[in-house]
Amino acid sequence: MTARDWWKSAVVYQVYPRSFADSNGDGVGDLGGIIERLDYLERLGVDVLWLSPVYRSPMADNGYDISDYEDVDPLFGSLAQLDELIAELHARGMKLVMDLVVNHTSSAHAWFAESRSSTDNPKRDWYWWRRPRPGFEPGTPGAEPTNWGSAFSGPAWTYDPTTGEYYLHLFAPEQPDLNWENPEVRQAVYAMMNRWLDRGVDGFRMDVVCLLSKVLVDGPDGRPQLPDGRLERDPLGAGVVDTSRYGDTTPLVVNGPRIHEFIQEMHREVFADRPPGVLTVGETPATTIEQARLYTDPARAELDMVFQFEHVDLDSGPQGKWDIVPMTMLDLKHSLNRWQEGLAAAGWNSLYLGNHDQPRCVSRFGSDDPAHRQQSAKALATVLHLHRGTPYVYQGDELGLPNAGFTRLDQLRDVESLNYYAAAVASGRSPEDTMGALSRKGRDNARLPMPWDASATGGFTSGSPWIEVHPLAGEINAAAQVDDPASVYAHYRRLIALRHDEPVVAHGSFRMLLVDDPQVYAFVREYDGVRLLVVANLSSDPGVVADLSEVAYDDAELLIGSVQDATPGPADPLAPWESRVFRLA
Ligand code: GLC
Repeated sequence: MTARDWWKSAVVYQVYPRSFADSNGDGVGDLGGIIERLDYLERLGVDVLWLSPVYRSPMADNGYDISDYEDVDPLFGSLAQLDELIAELHARGMKLVMDLVVNHTSSAHAWFAESRSSTDNPKRDWYWWRRPRPGFEPGTPGAEPTNWGSAFSGPAWTYDPTTGEYYLHLFAPEQPDLNWENPEVRQAVYAMMNRWLDRGVDGFRMDVVCLLSKVLVDGPDGRPQLPDGRLERDPLGAGVVDTSRYGDTTPLVVNGPRIHEFIQEMHREVFADRPPGVLTVGETPATTIEQARLYTDPARAELDMVFQFEHVDLDSGPQGKWDIVPMTMLDLKHSLNRWQEGLAAAGWNSLYLGNHDQPRCVSRFGSDDPAHRQQSAKALATVLHLHRGTPYVYQGDELGLPNAGFTRLDQLRDVESLNYYAAAVASGRSPEDTMGALSRKGRDNARLPMPWDASATGGFTSGSPWIEVHPLAGEINAAAQVDDPASVYAHYRRLIALRHDEPVVAHGSFRMLLVDDPQVYAFVREYDGVRLLVVANLSSDPGVVADLSEVAYDDAELLIGSVQDATPGPADPLAPWESRVFRLA
């Protein structure tokens, strides 16, 4: 029988299907491509594949706008291929976690077509429809029901002339928010989830799940109203809303009043009566440690783990995500340590430095200088994978892939980036400055085709790829790394194997050492009499010495070192970005 918390000793690999592997030459990755590459994942040793959305979708947000939850988009393949993927994974002892996007649907979903058709349609209340603001001409600026901004620029409301009302979309206009206050919506979602589990999937990654419950106040017309937001950035907010023009939705939609009630209900309706072992991970931007504990304390029967955002918001300035401020290693260390301590007694965290929404971790937290790129990719992975929590590997990070180095807008495809560029330049930010910010933090950095080999398209497609191939694909690719024991890929393999082999990695306590050291990242894990010591130099300085006098040991066995063929001791000087894992006796 599967242990209830098997995912503590598991590693999850995220596939962004559009960019992973193309089997039919149309330039877009697909399920056939994933199936062909499963040996690569098995060899890496990962336990779970998290598949970003492959459902039917008009692709306004690359599949995070779903028009049919029950079918696969023809661009990605067919339901039969999804069944084949599930079978192939299970045959390898691996599991499949599907992306569950239920804060919103696509505006092309049949539910929304019904909902928008008339004010008395039975599904009208499945979405958030509101009248224009009194005193304004409907459809003109200022007539939006509230002052909310969308995470993808512009207002969070779009006017629909069919019925003369607005609908809410916290993301793009093509992504109308579902109204979770309506019990029929919730039941429809649970039924859909149950069908996927019956089909054989092993869990769900729940997209922006903390946004499902919105704050409501009594309105003058008797209908519950969504209140205006403040024109200043909430300290917790990711700063995705332009608060110079729009109210920040963070305090009004993140972890709203009924969120835990909804998640507990979902647990009862979908998971409670099944054998243990379904993995649930919630994506929870702008969420505090206290909230994360509520979501993931097993006693509360909500979620297994969450993706918190504190560390990926550290480089966001007062104006938000695109106002990029310097971030130090100490900032990162203090933040991750707070989360380790905060979830030590109850709760569980996901460990990640990158995904399809974030720039490449080696460029952001490490060094993409060719002299340090490999070692810094290994160091970041070592530190992350040895924390308490479940590690997530985003496709390409196991090769040490850096950012794309975009210099032109025509290189970008992402709705968030393109909308931001238009809005920012229109309101006076220089095109160069705007492009510079997009180059550093734009989501397309992580969405370039996976480089499989050194050929022209990186072995991703036989056709013309939907977005350019990584400029370094000739040098950084899977073929060059899988058999090289000194590669980043080989290092990831060792880290993943260590989690499988040593219970202390999954279950041990965590104690940070040298908390205020600006270069050394060191900690001790302990479980059942076994102690691991992790020491890394997270800087490009050579000869860094870690003062480990606060740790007592007679003997230290090097389990994983990042410098090939070297067997240093804990106190030996560290090369730039060198990392080591020891077993202490
Ligand atoms: C999540 C997804 C992101 C998407 C957004 C709207 O943050 O990870 O890719 O754009 O939700 O669905």
